[in-house]
Amino acid sequence: MTEIISGSPEQTEAAGRALALAVRSADGRRYVALYGELGAGKTAFVRGFVSVLSPGSRVKSPTYTIVNEYRRGGLPVFHFDFYRTGGEDDFLALGFYEYLDTGVCISEWSENIPEEIFATIPDPVRVYIEKTSENGRRISVDGIEIDL
Ligand SMILES: Nc1ncnc2c1ncn2[C@@H]1O[C@H](COP(=O)(O)OP(=O)(O)OP(=O)(O)O)[C@@H](O)[C@H]1O
Ligand SMILES: [Mg+2]
Repeated sequence: MTEIISGSPEQTEAAGRALALAVRSADGRRYVALYGELGAGKTAFVRGFVSVLSPGSRVKSPTYTIVNEYRRGGLPVFHFDFYRTGGEDDFLALGFYEYLDTGVCISEWSENIPEEIFATIPDPVRVYIEKTSENGRRISVDGIEIDL
């Protein structure tokens, strides 16, 4: 587990970039599950992550569409927001496993991924973002080594 202390949205984006570099060089670690409350900085983290793997893509929270795709790099990046996604059926209907097979996946509100589904994801990386003050965040990365 790597712990990063962030004091600004820019530092949270930088943490996202660091993780993307690690994911790119670690073959097979293709699922990143983000955890954290409303306004924790999940989308900020994704912005940094995507800037490495799909440079120039505009990252927005896909709350109403469930998934955004960014395809300006070698591998497509799929950005999920499971805020409103419920049971196993929702995940199957979405074609979750096709995304897993096709590119790098990163999800907001991973708390809502059913256990049965999560258990089938190979080598997931988990990222917990906790608010420690108005601008302070503790970012814990589990499942991969990252260089800071
Ligand atoms: N250190 C920090 N890292 C990230 N965001 C920060 C930080 N300090 C303050 N913020 C603010 O917190 C908010 C984070 O918003 P963001 O959309 O990234 O959160 P989120 O976790 O994706 O929320 P949601 O659950 O609504 O999708 C922004 O308004 C940002 O300016
Ligand atoms: Mg968000």
